[in-house]
Order: sequence, then structure tokens, then C-alpha cells
Amino acid sequence: MDKYAIIGGQSLNGTVEIGGAKNAALAILSAAVMTDDPVIIENVPDVRDTMVLLQAIESIGVKVEHRDRHTVCMDSSHITACIIDDDFMKRIRASYYMIGALLGKYGHAEVPLPGGCNIGIRAIDQHLKGFKALGATVEIEHGSIIAHAEHLTGNHIFMDKVSVGATINVMMAACMASGKTTIENAAKEPHVVDLANFLNSMGANIKGAGTDVIRIKGVPKLHGSEYTIIPDQIEAGTFMMAAAATHGDVTVKNVIPKHLECITAKLIEAGCRVVEYDDAVRVIAPEKLSTTQVKTLPYPGYPTDMQPQITVALGLATGTSIVTESIFDNRFKYVDELTRMGASIKVESGTAIITGVEKYTGAVIAAPDLRAGAALVIAALAADGESIVEDIKYIERGYEDFDLKLESLGADITKFSSENELRKKRLKAVGN
Ligand code: EPZ
Repeated sequence: MDKYAIIGGQSLNGTVEIGGAKNAALAILSAAVMTDDPVIIENVPDVRDTMVLLQAIESIGVKVEHRDRHTVCMDSSHITACIIDDDFMKRIRASYYMIGALLGKYGHAEVPLPGGCNIGIRAIDQHLKGFKALGATVEIEHGSIIAHAEHLTGNHIFMDKVSVGATINVMMAACMASGKTTIENAAKEPHVVDLANFLNSMGANIKGAGTDVIRIKGVPKLHGSEYTIIPDQIEAGTFMMAAAATHGDVTVKNVIPKHLECITAKLIEAGCRVVEYDDAVRVIAPEKLSTTQVKTLPYPGYPTDMQPQITVALGLATGTSIVTESIFDNRFKYVDELTRMGASIKVESGTAIITGVEKYTGAVIAAPDLRAGAALVIAALAADGESIVEDIKYIERGYEDFDLKLESLGADITKFSSENELRKKRLKAVGN
């Protein structure tokens, strides 16, 4: 099992290129099966989640050609089944996007029910509500969702809860339904907008993505497209927070600053200087961060996927900060690991009361999930001494070359799977 060995105490300095947005890619790769024409998608992040989803897509007969590390060409003209294997759902929850895509195109989809996960209950009732509103029958049999519709008809759908996944899934199912669909209380995340733009580039008729009312006029057919995925605002935010926690000076390149506005605002409140360029943002951190208050909210509020990272940074601020998690019910599991590094954080009913400490100290820690894993790496980078981060498979689900990008900013981080390999890599580094 791969791990990271990190020797903390170095400030991060320099420029890092941000990759394509994982959560946009998962939606867009799924939607690409809705046409029989070839589709070329660029800026696909080379992370475990996207690679596993592409395997799931290939498993139903789609031809997937990797033109280069970040470009795929998909040919869905010979799909053989509308059934996703259980193994793929176990490895990637977002396989459930295949329901919206296959139901929308073929009127049928069989996809295993997504399992639980480490950040809380992940209901899908709003997804199913949307499919039914469009005229599909939805059965749960032997652990799978079986959605079927002889004919999908547009409808007026009011989401009981703002849900990124449900908005994305229903948008895909509705874009080839006959008639008009309105999705009220829709999610407004950048990756929802990116999917709408991609579907429109294939001939769909979707308006209002990015607002809480999305209007869709169904079309009988979608054609091929060449499309480039937006930059990953969570990857960018993670590096910005790493700069803040290590009192560094980091510029994230290939970003859309508007997508980072809430993260930027919090960094400024915490005492950082932030400079915005057309496609880059520079964070210059103070020696000591100031306190601030954070509540995670749907976009454009502060993103829940950036909650662990800011909690780690504020754990080193002067004074007491408050971080409230309003999206998921169990997203503070990493605090136990952080406490072992010297953090002073009390979590009570979804709110973390953070008393800033002078420093963290290195420890052996385990990544409980994707974003918390990245946050614990930030803590290790800021800590005195050596840390070993275990279970980095979670981190590699959503961060491409995370260790190499951090190393390019001055971090002392080594990925290894055995003590012997670590010793060799360290000797080699000393030799260089
Ligand atoms: C997406 O998950 C992201 N995943 C998550 O990122 C992200 O944390 C989340 O949106 C919120 O921004 C992908 O895009 C693949 P939701 P999703 O539906 O769609 C409840 C990462 O780190 N809900 O917006 O599952 C749900 O339980 C991952 O990249 C229902 O009650 O999130 C949660 O409390 C982690 N019923 C809240 O809504 C439903 O039918 C928001 O969930 C759907 C959701």
C-alpha cells in the first residue's frame, strides 16, 4: 500500500499547474455516451476516479481511446448493455451518473446502488424522484437501481434539497426527453455548468445552468463534440490552503478565479494577500494566520470539499475559529488524526471549534477520505518533524501527481510502498 513520507516545516513557494475538474469530468464522461458520434474530451484529470469510470464505460461496449494522458476519444455507437457492474460502483460512486445518461439515451439503465462512504449518508432519493417525474419506472432489485422508460416526457421538477449529483443526473435524463423540463432548486456548481455546456455542444438545449432554475427543451438526438473540461477549483483551493498553512507564496495556474472567490475571501479574512490574474491566483501567506468563521454551503458558498483543508490551516491560526459543515453529516472524521498531530479542535453537532496551536508535530496518520487525506498532507507539510500518511489511495482518487506537484513547491514528500524503497529514494535525493 503506497504511503507518503513528509518532513514538514518548509514553506511552499512557486507555481503549480491545476488539472481538469474531477467532478466535471465524471459527469461529462458519462454524458458522452449519449451520442453515437465520436466525442473528444480534453483536460481529463488522470486520477483513479476518472480512470475507473472510463473502465465502467468501456465495460458496456464504448470504445475509449486515450489520445494522450488527458485526452480521450469515445465512440458509443456500439453500446452492448445498459448495465453497470457492481464492482465499478464499489470503486466509484459517480457510476450512478450512467443512469441519467443511459436512461436519457436508451430508456433503460441498471446500476448498483451506491454504497456508503466516509463523509456521511449519501442519499439518492432526489435522483430517483427526477427520473420518475420524467416518466421512468424505478425499481430497487438485488442491490441495483433499475430505471426504465418507454418514453421520457419533460416535467417541472422541484428538488427538495440542493444536490449536485441529482441536478446532473436529471439534466442528462431530461435533455433527450420530449418536451420541456424545469429543474427548480438546482445546484449551481461550476461542474453543473460545465456539463450543461458540454451537452449543449452536442446539440442539447439547456438554459439557466449556474442558476437555481434550469430549463431544458428535449432534443431527439445528440451529435459528437470536442470539449475541454474546466479547471478543478478544489485542487486549486487545496494548494492555496497549503500555501496558507505553511506561510508560503504559491501561484495556482490554469484556474478560473471566479470559481475560487469564496476560498479567496476566506484566505483574505485569515490574513493572506491574494492576487488574481486572468487564469491564475497567487496566495501570499502571513507568518501566522488570523481566525475566521466558515460555514460550508452549496456553490457559490464555501465548498464542503474544502472544509478539511481550511480546518487544518485555521488549526495553526492565532485564536479560535469556527467551521460548520452543513452539507454532510460526518465530515469531521479526520479531526481525530489531526489531534494526534497536536491540533486542539472540538467537534459538536456538525461544528468544529478550533483553538489555534503554535505548531503541529509529525505523526503516522491515515487518510479517511479524499479531501480529508489532502488536508492531513497539508498538516504534515506544516508540522515539525516527519509524518507518514497512509491510505493515500483515497487522495489519488482526486489529485493527479499530488506528491510531485507539492515537491515542485519545495515540499519534502516521498511516495513509497516499503521502508526499503523509502530509504533508497532518500539516499538518491541526498545524492542529487
Ligand atoms: C458531489 O457529491 C461531489 N461528488 C462531492 O465531492 C461534493 O462533496 C458534493 O457534490 C457537494 O458539493 C461528485 O461530484 C462526484 P450532493 P454528491 O448530491 O452529488 C444530500 C469529492 O470530494 N442528498 O450535492 O453526492 C446528500 O446526502 C466529492 O470530490 C440527498 O439527501 O453531493 C448531501 O447531504 C466528495 N438526496 C447533500 O444532499 C439526494 O438525492 C449534498 O449532496 C442527493 C443528495
